[in-house]
Order: sequence, then structure tokens, then C-alpha cells
Amino acid sequence: MHQKRVAAGIIAAFAAVATAESDVASLTKDTFKDFVKANNLILAEFFAPWCGHCKALAPEYEEAATSLKEKNIKLAKVDCTEEADLCQEFGVEGYPTLKVFRGLEDVKPYNGQRKADAIHSYMVKQSLPAVSLLTKDTLEDFKTADKVVLVAYIATDDKASNETFSKVAETLRDDYLFGGVNDAAVAEAEGVKFPSIVLYKTFDEGKNKFESKFEVEAITEFAKTSATPLVGEVGPETYAGYMSAGIPLAYIFAETQEERDALSKALKPVAEKHKGKINFATIDAKQFGAHAANLNLKTDKFPSFAIQDTVKNLKFPLHHDLEVAHDTIHDFVKRYVAGEIEPSIKSEPIPEKQDGPVTVVVAKNYDQVVLDDKKDVLIEFYAPWCGHCKALAPKYDQLGSLYAESEFKDKVVIAKVDATANDVPDEIAGFPTIKLFPAGAKDAPVTYSGARTVEDLVQFIKENGKYKASVSVKEEGTEEAAPAATEEAKDTKEAKEAKEEKEEHDEL
Ligand SMILES: *[C@@H]1O[C@H](CO)[C@@H](O)[C@H](O)[C@H]1NC(C)=O
Repeated sequence: MHQKRVAAGIIAAFAAVATAESDVASLTKDTFKDFVKANNLILAEFFAPWCGHCKALAPEYEEAATSLKEKNIKLAKVDCTEEADLCQEFGVEGYPTLKVFRGLEDVKPYNGQRKADAIHSYMVKQSLPAVSLLTKDTLEDFKTADKVVLVAYIATDDKASNETFSKVAETLRDDYLFGGVNDAAVAEAEGVKFPSIVLYKTFDEGKNKFESKFEVEAITEFAKTSATPLVGEVGPETYAGYMSAGIPLAYIFAETQEERDALSKALKPVAEKHKGKINFATIDAKQFGAHAANLNLKTDKFPSFAIQDTVKNLKFPLHHDLEVAHDTIHDFVKRYVAGEIEPSIKSEPIPEKQDGPVTVVVAKNYDQVVLDDKKDVLIEFYAPWCGHCKALAPKYDQLGSLYAESEFKDKVVIAKVDATANDVPDEIAGFPTIKLFPAGAKDAPVTYSGARTVEDLVQFIKENGKYKASVSVKEEGTEEAAPAATEEAKDTKEAKEAKEEKEEHDEL
């Protein structure tokens, strides 16, 4: 019985490959599981024929499948429009989804890039044991085989340490190379005792030692901290990591690689001093110069420097008149750490008079107006380029006038803020966004999602405000119903970016 099943599996797996007319095996619910069982290591792509990213990946995937044939690493694909159940079983939510299979129990996401050579090297790494056993002769080459390698020095009979290290290696094998040594003489030559770990790296101090008790968490932490370069680089691959690191990020903007290298070297002592407290990284100002604006830096003057508190999203730009050099940065960072530098807040000037029907809010009077605890404040976050905001403007003015001329004129404020020219504390996903900050409940604003008509806005203020303030709406200007505030009727940042051609700068 058992034998029969295996045989059937091999035939099915073979059939799948043979009929595909390419080196990528095309699998179905009838062939998938047997194919996975018949091969130690597989990369599987779950795709849909209409998906653009899948089409772009296809030739790369084919090329990788061909080059990986000699390593006996198989690439497969599953058409999710045909095999919905199979794709659902493996938790496929978007296309393409790439997963690495070591049997049906060990399934991991593919974390490499979608290029033929990247797929090739990623899968070759996957095919090696998570920990390579090293000898006196192989250790030297291994130390420099990648930017970061970790080598554990463990006694042959120390099963516990071996197991712990192997666990870490399994989890982090996409990021670093892992090796193991159990020859006491080799350990002695390296100046370490059993059990310990040495992380070798091609930058900064070259190596770090871990000599504490072997525990998964402690080793993982050690690996991540030691592998982060003193002065790293901000780019699409590292940005998310820096943002979620829980410590501030100091950006060094410069246009050329030479400048970045020179500044990175010059500022290394400052980075060293604040290691583990502030991350330092260079950023290519030619490619990502637009990001300088997010830090309230000029976008046309480089090199420049800014610290971002990634937790509270506060920005501390170095004044553009100051030179980015060791002494200025040393001083600036020291004052930052001492809490002596005020965050920079982008703001238009506070209007001298509020003479329109709608109160104009800027960053500098935001708290004073919006967080006035005695008033129900309705605020529109708009962008000057947003068409839906322009369409709303006359109605919003009318709303403002109605309240300004009513018995509620001291209790209800109708306000607006240009959220592109002012740093606001709210996370704004699309324009316009309208929120009511009720009196006495400023920590619980209510976001408006109804139709953009004067009546509906009045109703919203009445229902959600402290004063239940209702005004009667005159006939005029109410005849046409505005579109509902659905996603389609909002101008999102993405839509704006799609409109504006960004040939000069890439987004992070
Ligand atoms: C860890 O244990 C495995 C399995 O027993 C063994 O093959 C390997 O050599 C050990 N690693 C080290 C560094 O001793």
C-alpha cells in the first residue's frame, strides 16, 4: 500500500514536469502534494494568468528553473484561477505568492528578489544545510563567504547548544550564513572556548563574540545587533527595518557614493557612541532626494542630515547652513540626546485674521483650535491638488456660514487644514478627510464617511457633537447630491503619485 502510493507519486510528479514543456513544473491539486513529497526542496509560485507581476516574473522564473536543474532544485507553479482550493489551503492571498517547500510541513515564504539570479542564489542557499560543519581547512574561506557569517564553536557532545544554534540558523538562514566547529584546537586558535559564537563581518570591527548562555532569543538579538552596520544605508530593502527598529534613525543624505563613503567614515565615531540607541545610515540623495522633504529638509541642498524619532514620527533636521561633518553632527546628536533640540514642525504661518466662514488651521495653531475642549470642531484635511476637495469647498463654506450665523457660533467650529503644507498629528490616507473632534472628547475624534452634502454634514455634527448643534439648511445649494465619501471618491496619495510622473525620484 505504502509503496504503491510512493510510486504513484513519482509518476505524477514526473508527468507534471514532462507535460509542462519548460523546466517549471505546472502543478494541480492532483499532482502538487506528491511532487512536494518527491522533492526535498521546491520553490512554488502561486499565480493568476491576468496578474501583471506574475507575467513579469515568468521569464525570470523560467531562467532560474533551468539554471537550478543541475543543482536538482525544482521550481513549480500553480494557477490559482484553476486551483482555488489548493491556493487557499496554502494561504495564498495575493499574486504572485512564492513559497519554499521542504515537504508539506515545512513551508516558508520566499524572501528574495524576483530576478533569475536572485532566485538562483536564494535557492542554492536554501539547499545547503542551515549549519555547515567546518574544519580547520574550511573555516577561513567560510568567514568571508558572505557579508555576515556566524560560526558556533561547540563540543561534539553538547547537544543542547547544538540544537539551540541550529534553531536560530533555521530561522535566520535567509539573512546570514551559519557554520559550526567542534574541533577544540580550532576554537583555541580563534581564542574562544566551547560553547561560543563568533560573528564575522566584512565591515566595522570585523567580528563580534557571543559568550553567554546559548538561548534562541539572546543569540538572535546578538546576530541582529552585530550584523547592523554602524553606518548602514537607507533604501527600499532596509527602510521598513529602520522604521520598526524602535530607536531613532539618523539620515545622512549625499548624492554620490564617494560622498556617502567619506561621510560614513567621518561620522562613524558618532554612530559608535550611540550604538543601540540611534541608527545611522546614509541615503542616496540622487535617487531618494524627495524623502528629504518628509524630514523637513531642503530637497535641493545636499549633503544634509536629519534625525527621525521613528516612534513618535518627529523630525529633527540639521539646519541647512551647517556643514555635515564630524564636529557639527557630534554636537547636534549630543544636544538631541539631551532633549535640547525642538522637533521641526512644518507649518504655514498662523493667519492674522480668521475672516472667512471656515477657520483656517495650520500646524502652529492646530492644538489651540482643534483641541479646544469647549468646542465641537469639524476639520477638513485637504490638499491643494485634490479635485474632490475643490468640489466640496463651496458647500463647506456654506456649512461654515450656517454655524457662524447661528446660536452655536461659539460652540461649533468648522475648520480646514492644508495637510500637505502642515504637519498634522493625524494619519491621513486620502483627501479630503473630515473629522469631528467633539468638545470634552478630544481623544476620540469621529471620521466622517457620509455623502458630502451640507445636510448630511449638519446631521453628523448633530449626532456626534457634544452640543447636538443643528442648523436649518436653506434650499439653495443643496439640490445636487455629492458623491459619497467612498474610497473611489477620495484623492489618495497613490492616485496623486500616479498622476505626477516621478521620473526623478523613487519612493522608499
Ligand atoms: C550538531 O549536531 C549534528 C547532529 O548530531 C551534527 O551532525 C553536527 O556536527 C553538530 N554540530 C556541531 C557544530 O558539532
